[in-house]
Amino acid sequence: MTAQIIDGKAIAQSIRSNLKQQVAERKQNGQRVPGLAVILVGSDPASQVYVGSKRRACEEVGFESKSFDLETTTTEEELLALIDQCNDDPSIDGILVQLPLPEHIEDSKVIERIRPDKDVDGFHPYNVGRLAQRIPVLRSCTPKGIMTLIRSTGIDTYGLDATIVGASNIVGRPMTLELLLAGCTTTTCHRFTKDLESKVRQADLVVVAVGKPGFIPGEWIKPGAIVIDVGINRLEDGSLVGDVEYQAAAERAAHITPVPGGVGPMTIASLLENTLYAAEEYHD
Ligand code: GUN
Repeated sequence: MTAQIIDGKAIAQSIRSNLKQQVAERKQNGQRVPGLAVILVGSDPASQVYVGSKRRACEEVGFESKSFDLETTTTEEELLALIDQCNDDPSIDGILVQLPLPEHIEDSKVIERIRPDKDVDGFHPYNVGRLAQRIPVLRSCTPKGIMTLIRSTGIDTYGLDATIVGASNIVGRPMTLELLLAGCTTTTCHRFTKDLESKVRQADLVVVAVGKPGFIPGEWIKPGAIVIDVGINRLEDGSLVGDVEYQAAAERAAHITPVPGGVGPMTIASLLENTLYAAEEYHD
């Protein structure tokens, strides 16, 4: 079997075109343009790239993008004060604080300070709790984007055995909740998991988010499975690879996401969808 490639780049582009249209219609109706505040603390090169892409995507669909670039030495109090200011600003529908934050700032304190109705990353305990209780509102961007990719295959997710490799707050945990909501039987693997191989081999659907190049051998993939690779790893020769051994996995899977051009573009598309959702559901 040779897998069908799930074209995240094309799907994300079509979501963005659609959003651009909706923003144009809002303008025609005399409605406000949605606003997104993007906050970067420090100068981590990868974060700078991600934040740059988010700001450009925001402007491309016609949202107002407000950029805040803060020094690495910014104190937690200063960052919390900026969040308070954005929380109170009626022109801002969504607040994104790029992670990771410098070590002297506590992620959870910052995330919890963002008003849940402006939490377009979907990281606030309120929004994660809503998803856990099957009443989602603002959903975490990467898992939400992955659900869009899975739906694009037309495969019914009810009853599938899904294995999620990685249990981070950004991807693995909310991914597990999304797949549970979609009727899968979920197995979430992490550094203490025994016999990872058997958990991957039995899966009809595998999502891998560990950040280690080629971490999952292609040979472990069940024939006919759906493979979602969240990893984006740069090798010494400058090429980008995922967490799954792509060629060997593509020979066994029915559907697979490429790296780059799979999950990556969907995170930003979901962020834009969430920002419009926040504007329409909470702030109009
Ligand atoms: N760092 C890595 N992924 C993300 C994301 O989706 N949102 C934010 N805010 N930071 C991240």
